[in-house]
Amino acid sequence: MKIYVAQNSGFCFGVKRALKKTFDAAEERKKRIFTYGPLIHNKQAIEKLTDLGVESVDNVESAKESTLIIRSHGIPLSIYDKAKKKNIEIIDATCPFVRRVQEIAREYYNKGYKVVIIGNPNHPEVIGINGWCDNNAYIIENDSGVKDIEFTPKMCVVAQTTITLEKWNSIIDKLSEKAGELREFNTICLATKVRQESCADIAKKVDAMIVIGGYHSSNTQKLFEISKKYCENSIHIETSDEIPFEMLEGCEKIGITAGASTPEWIINDVVKKIENKGGD
Ligand code: F3S
Repeated sequence: MKIYVAQNSGFCFGVKRALKKTFDAAEERKKRIFTYGPLIHNKQAIEKLTDLGVESVDNVESAKESTLIIRSHGIPLSIYDKAKKKNIEIIDATCPFVRRVQEIAREYYNKGYKVVIIGNPNHPEVIGINGWCDNNAYIIENDSGVKDIEFTPKMCVVAQTTITLEKWNSIIDKLSEKAGELREFNTICLATKVRQESCADIAKKVDAMIVIGGYHSSNTQKLFEISKKYCENSIHIETSDEIPFEMLEGCEKIGITAGASTPEWIINDVVKKIENKGGD
């Protein structure tokens, strides 16, 4: 039996970096440590952080006099000032790709451009980016949002890092029809696309495919969908306790992939258990 782990699976660069900063801080621990919102959407990883005494808060006030970790999604600019006033030490784990979007929004807003963000208005990353241009951006999620925009002579458009290229292209087409000067910054991060391609590559060549990730994680569900398309014998699990050994019986090639918020130790655990056929 041979196990193939998708080359691009599990944490993306930004999430990995945020988690490392958090574990390092927990180890050094000088003050109480909080994260601004849950660091990642993975039950097991959050439990591990809680065991280390790292808690999540949804407002600056609760982290007074403590350490506050900014997750990869980033935060509005104003939160940094608020934290300073409350004597909070910030550990900034904003993904550098997200920081780039925030800086573009700020730069062009300051130059007099009206900023448009293509993305989900309720997503923390988008709320954060908007906070770098005085909460003054238009946020549109789909083509129909374009009609609500009041066009100004100078417009600048950026993307939430996880939107699809199809969405970007289609909205840009609509905006270009009406805009005068339109500065376009395609800030989509390729991590999601690359993960999906890796999943399809593996699923095409194996007898069974295991997709690991939270049941509520939308990117894991998407990977499962892709996997199922190319390998009927696919299953979605959260941890190694759920490996369906009956399903793997007689399979010579087994593929494994994992959602963007699945820690490496969970992936390794699944691989090890399959290699040992359920034993430790
Ligand atoms: Fe991950 Fe940063 Fe891209 S958090 S999805 S590497 S923008």
